[in-house]
Amino acid sequence: MGSDSSSDPTQRFPTRVPPGGHCFSYAQCRAVLREADPLPCVRAGLLELLGPSRLSLHASGREALRIAFSHLAAQRDRDEIWLPGYTCFSIPAAAVAAGLRVRLVEIGLDGRVDPDALAQLPLERAAALVVSNLFGVPEPVARLRELLDARGVALVDDAAQSLGARSAEGPVGSRGEVGVLSFGRGKPLSALGGGALAWVGSEGPAASSAPAAAPPNPLRALVRAAAFNLALLPPIFRWLAAIPALGIGETRYDPNFERGGIDGAAVCLAAAVLPEFEAANRARARRAAALAERISLETDFSPLLAADGDIAVYPRLGVLAPSAAARNDALHALAPVGATRMYPGPLERVKALQPHRVGKTETPGAQQFSDRLLTLSTEKTLAGERLEFTLRTLRKFS
Ligand SMILES: Cc1ncc(COP(=O)(O)O)c(C=O)c1O
Repeated sequence: MGSDSSSDPTQRFPTRVPPGGHCFSYAQCRAVLREADPLPCVRAGLLELLGPSRLSLHASGREALRIAFSHLAAQRDRDEIWLPGYTCFSIPAAAVAAGLRVRLVEIGLDGRVDPDALAQLPLERAAALVVSNLFGVPEPVARLRELLDARGVALVDDAAQSLGARSAEGPVGSRGEVGVLSFGRGKPLSALGGGALAWVGSEGPAASSAPAAAPPNPLRALVRAAAFNLALLPPIFRWLAAIPALGIGETRYDPNFERGGIDGAAVCLAAAVLPEFEAANRARARRAAALAERISLETDFSPLLAADGDIAVYPRLGVLAPSAAARNDALHALAPVGATRMYPGPLERVKALQPHRVGKTETPGAQQFSDRLLTLSTEKTLAGERLEFTLRTLRKFS
């Protein structure tokens, strides 16, 4: 092993590729300065992507979720939010911030809610089930909807990682009672902060109760965009990732997050990136498809892909390793080229969440998924020698 230079990735790449996120272009920065009234542009752009819905803009995706959960629970006079056993920790944090309880639902090795597991559980106290459409891949919702509709449970179609994706049932974010968007770092629509709700049909709080967006702040938007662009440079990102206090790449469960409306800089950045959003998604999806094809042909790792006919947006490519040991080895070797394990574990392992959970449901499927999952960058930085190194490494641990 000592003579194999591919075994020492830090020597081979004295840089570190961020796991996701792309630079704001010069044209986008100019658009920030040119657009005097970005809020209507953001609303129009989102409505075009999602179809008819009532939008409200919030400080973050988790804050949007908190508002949605509170409303859905109050309307139904129920106090449980049902979540997939493996998902972003911000989702249970939002449920707890709304004063509600969380029940976990088992997932399959595709990372999706298992409808058979759902069918066996008592939905009577459930206000809503969240589908999280991880890695930009749409989860099928028709079967889930049948089960939920029969028992008066809302579906929250979380499009934080999948805005622009669509399945046979429609655009992700529009297939339930409410869609949730996040404009945070590394999301398909990144404005370095902010989130939104898109209420479909007649549900949703009165428009007058939506928080006001802060006034546009183009200068702050430009400073943030410049700092972010700098941080994405692999030689710089390497140093930033090594500073523990910055907590880069860490996932924390924290129900004490900022409340209120969207920030004025995020509105400016969202308006600037929306015109090129779909083209950027298509380009990323093409890179993800090419990477997935080589992984499938050359290795024993399995990319998590959209069903035939569906459209995915892949802010990262999720890949399932043949075993937990192979995942750990591959992750160690590939971290410098942007590989991550995504979240630290299934939700059943989050200690601070335990007092807020109901049901004894164990989720061994979620544990197995978490143990075998690896995500790869779908940005242009994973090309050339970095790409070949990635494939060589996956072959080696196959
Ligand atoms: C699936 C999913 N839902 C919700 C959120 C919460 O979004 P935010 O980070 O904007 O609070 C995230 C964010 O990381 C996410 O990945």
